[in-house]
Amino acid sequence: MDRVLTNLKLVTMQPIANQSADENNGYHIIDNAVIGIINGKISYIGSSDHVDLHGHPDVIDCQQALVTPGIIDCHTHLIFAGNRANEFEQRLQGVPYETIAKAGGGILATVQATRAASEDELYELAIDRLEGLKRDGVTSIEIKSGYGLTLEDEIKMLRVAKSIGELEDIKVSTTLLAAHALPPEYQHNADGYIDHICTEIIPVVAAEKLADAVDVFCENIGFSNQQCERVYAAALAHGLKIKGHTEQLSNQGGSQLAASMGATSVDHIEYLDDAGVTALQKSGTVATLLPGAFYFLRETQYPPIDALRKAKVPMAIASDFNPGTSPIASMRMMMNLACTLFRLTPEESLRGVTCHAAQALGLGESRGQIRVGMDADLAIWQLEHPTELSYRIGVPDLLARVVDGEFFYA
Ligand code: NIG
Ligand code: FE
Repeated sequence: MDRVLTNLKLVTMQPIANQSADENNGYHIIDNAVIGIINGKISYIGSSDHVDLHGHPDVIDCQQALVTPGIIDCHTHLIFAGNRANEFEQRLQGVPYETIAKAGGGILATVQATRAASEDELYELAIDRLEGLKRDGVTSIEIKSGYGLTLEDEIKMLRVAKSIGELEDIKVSTTLLAAHALPPEYQHNADGYIDHICTEIIPVVAAEKLADAVDVFCENIGFSNQQCERVYAAALAHGLKIKGHTEQLSNQGGSQLAASMGATSVDHIEYLDDAGVTALQKSGTVATLLPGAFYFLRETQYPPIDALRKAKVPMAIASDFNPGTSPIASMRMMMNLACTLFRLTPEESLRGVTCHAAQALGLGESRGQIRVGMDADLAIWQLEHPTELSYRIGVPDLLARVVDGEFFYA
């Protein structure tokens, strides 16, 4: 073993032996544990009592700290310029999100600011926001484009996301979200824009390996099912994963469409109906809850948590960090909101930001659990019990993050 961590209270988030992997069956805590790491991967998990570490050159005594898998934020719009505090003000005076969007504000306001910004400016802005997330133990993050809406500007955003991924203390998955809003150049020609995405943007993004997945905003203020289906087909033809912003403001059946085409996740899903839940159950698609956007927009329609639970659909939780609906760079806050607003248990909430978040990114085989063979991505906390992660907000409980076996102290 290259490195050994001893005296850990390990919260593996592994399914307990003899139960199927999708059972929601406990944190799987191991007291007084040891982890061995070789080449950035977990090579050994055992009890401190049973290993002789005498003379080992790299032993880190964690003094009974709580160790969870590194936190994974599987849905963010981290890269953009400007902010929309003015719209926050407008909404508090009673103007709805959709009305602001239809009047050219909303996503398009951020598009204007983002197009005008350089790669360097976008990088610096995103790095600051990322600091907030890291303080909550984040080791992996998904970052979407979607505020460029031209080939050149979407690529610019994805390049910035890729360069953030070159930092050694964070892993980045990138997602093309060109179908986020209709750009002014294509006003009254949504199908023309969809053609452009399918025949020009996706092929270039795939060829330059700038994205792992393709996302769409399937909504009455976004794109229709037929349009989303075309984007998904083009993405799949280019070997990219697919996912969707679906059933956020209305029920369009977008989740069912995404599930039928093999989406790794559908996100928001406040308006998901029973047929949608069944579709996710069949396809193994993750239901990603975005409680920050729900809270910030003061939504009243709740995602169908009980039905998802009964159907054993894995539920992930993400920040959806963005300037319009969730300017909140805190995964602890998201975990707390998932419990207080959506009535998830703290254990479901931790699964939501670890193993299920990894699954939402199609990375469930290598991240999101503390398990032999998986990446040594960990969060080390000054806490007694994992329930406290969802319970308390704003206290600096994080001691360190570990990414591929390397330590980054808080
Ligand atoms: O996930 N729903 C669409 N996209 C974002 C909001 C983007 C924005 O308002 O800038 C979301 O909520
Ligand atoms: Fe989003």
